[in-house]
Amino acid sequence: MSTPVKIAVTGAAGQICYSLLFRIASGELLGRDQPVQLRLLEITPALKALEGVVMELDDCAYPLLDSVVIGDDPNHVFDGVNLAFLVGARPRSKGMERGDLLEANGAIFKPQGRALNDHAADDVKVLITGNPANTNALIALSNAPDIPAERFNALTRLDHNRAAGQLAIKAGVPVADVSHVTIWGNHSATQYPDVFNARIRGEQASTVIDDTAWLENDFLPTVQKRGAAIIEARGASSAASAAKATIDHMHDWVLGTPEGDWVSMAVPSDGSYGVPEGIVSSFACTTADGSYTIVEGLEVSDYSQAKIDATVAELTEERDAVRSLGLVS
Ligand code: NAD
Ligand code: LMR
Repeated sequence: MSTPVKIAVTGAAGQICYSLLFRIASGELLGRDQPVQLRLLEITPALKALEGVVMELDDCAYPLLDSVVIGDDPNHVFDGVNLAFLVGARPRSKGMERGDLLEANGAIFKPQGRALNDHAADDVKVLITGNPANTNALIALSNAPDIPAERFNALTRLDHNRAAGQLAIKAGVPVADVSHVTIWGNHSATQYPDVFNARIRGEQASTVIDDTAWLENDFLPTVQKRGAAIIEARGASSAASAAKATIDHMHDWVLGTPEGDWVSMAVPSDGSYGVPEGIVSSFACTTADGSYTIVEGLEVSDYSQAKIDATVAELTEERDAVRSLGLVS
């Protein structure tokens, strides 16, 4: 057996983690021969609940779970971590404006970025799921000057999976027949799920489905507003699907994307497709040897570019807001 990989997870007593931690411990993230150490961060009032989650992890008797460390101090919990899942975030409460939300999350992601900078392993990879995920990732990376910016990603894989699911249902094919889905931009209702580069059984998805009205008036808003629809139906935000997507993203980042396909990852922009540097935006990416590459040369029509520009404008506004709060440089 190899040395355990140290994995930090924040918000560990929350609902996403109630699914995520068990998947990690079972080997779904890194494979059935890789032991893991879980290092779980919570706020002090949630530590008791977290102890209950750890009891359940113990009771699962996972052969790959080497040990579990819990705490409320990121400087301790992030010590030596190779992978970090930043799931815990401050939800929007009644009367809270967007600016208040960004400020409240700044108070979480600024010190966590700093703690990762000071204590994580040299090879650390950080995935931000907590909302607003793209801008929280920007705050964290801005406060971790010694960690390369590209080691901070945000989650848009859930949107990617949602888009693939909707296309499969409409086309009447198994979801495994849908490939090359791309989510552009922000994990928010402005995101742009691109059907022109997506494929169904290797053919352009928009050609196979051949229903422009459905693609524009149904598919697009369904994927963009799926998070809100789940909150409305369930009375709580998506949890199992968010945990699955979080596993998918980190699994592929570490172990590589499927041959001949790509995935959607929110990464620090390098200026590709007119997306300015200095924001964390979703692109089609492939991964190999633990690094990702933005897929270049995709066909982007004027229609698609306008949609990309709109979601990028929102990310730029969020960046400006957190910059004015002194959370990013
Ligand atoms: P939850 O409220 O059930 O759990 C969040 C947990 O985070 C709580 O236990 C809380 O105590 C903890 N927490 C708060 N501040 C913390 C801090 N400073 N350090 C450590 N832990 C802290 O929420 P959830 O349903 O698990 O969702 C978590 C986040 O993920 C939310 O922001 C949600 O909006 C977001 N989300 C993102 C996606 C995505 O696709 N990117 C999808 C679903 C949910
Ligand atoms: C989702 O996409 O399901 C979540 O980001 C929704 C939310 O606001 O928590």
